[in-house]
Amino acid sequence: MDRKRIVSGIRPTGDLHLGHYLGVLKNWVGLQDEYQCFYFVADWHALTSEYRDPGIIEKSAREMVIIWLSVGIDPERSILFRQSHIKSHAELFLLLSMITPLSWLERNPTYKEMREELKGKDLGTFGFLGYPVLQASDIVIYSADQVPIGEDQLPHLELTREIVRRFNFLYGEGILKEPKEILTEAPKVPGLDGRKMSKSYDNAIFISETPETLKLKVMQMLTDIKRKTRKDPGEPGDCNLYPFHTFFTDEETRAEIELGCRTASLGCVDCKHILIRNLTGELQPVWEKVDYYRKHASVVDDILAQGAAKAVMESDSTMTRVRSAMQLVT
Ligand code: TRP
Repeated sequence: MDRKRIVSGIRPTGDLHLGHYLGVLKNWVGLQDEYQCFYFVADWHALTSEYRDPGIIEKSAREMVIIWLSVGIDPERSILFRQSHIKSHAELFLLLSMITPLSWLERNPTYKEMREELKGKDLGTFGFLGYPVLQASDIVIYSADQVPIGEDQLPHLELTREIVRRFNFLYGEGILKEPKEILTEAPKVPGLDGRKMSKSYDNAIFISETPETLKLKVMQMLTDIKRKTRKDPGEPGDCNLYPFHTFFTDEETRAEIELGCRTASLGCVDCKHILIRNLTGELQPVWEKVDYYRKHASVVDDILAQGAAKAVMESDSTMTRVRSAMQLVT
């Protein structure tokens, strides 16, 4: 039972797409073999930016868990829960906020970038500034050894470590654990228009497309603009569709596609059909499970309730240490 422990979460602010599938979820599935995994729906974090319209959070939170289960996150091995079900994340957030200097939060590059990126939303709130403190409490409340994250999240994790060091310096060495990162190399997944796949660019292929919408979307995708007509040769390296073949098509077929594109013996429509076939092949088993879980809401509820019960046990033991270190009589 000395498997190392990891903690990670996703904000439920919309449907999960192939960028999440390739960049996060496949990785999460694999980590279950080696680590004790705590995966949670970061619904409070979602509220920091979606507070005006929280309905989207409720809707995406449930659907998100369904997708996790359907792609192979295994509730027998991993602990799945919703952040807002574990109230002590908020208590630890409060306590950590007492010792976190404002300057650490204000200089956080992710904070600055997100405020830029989400210009349409008023993110000049206390909650949004405190986002990394809440993230720190998510992580240290389970004494995580490691946190699987993309590069963009590194400043947040560094802040977590700084908060832990300050806490332990003030109240006693070894009370909170300093987590390390597991850097997941996120493959570049282009969207329908060639920009990075993102819900906010409206260019995403969602994991839970239907076969029909999947087909429509792939058919819409831009290819190499040099191929104006069927007879014009193209270059896979300049094609927005081709990267998808690197994820979903075997090497031998890929070699044929590359040659066919460069010699114009294969048209873009045929190339798209190959991709549609392979994508559908990979996603079909996922869709079947999604369908099952959508029809069996209570199964999902039970999984989340059991996950929460385990998470509470773990977080309570940290909170007992923290309260006593801060001389809060319990
Ligand atoms: N900030 C993370 C993101 O946007 C989500 C998150 C919240 C998280 N709490 C976490 C990730 C704890 C890892 C660990 O992706």
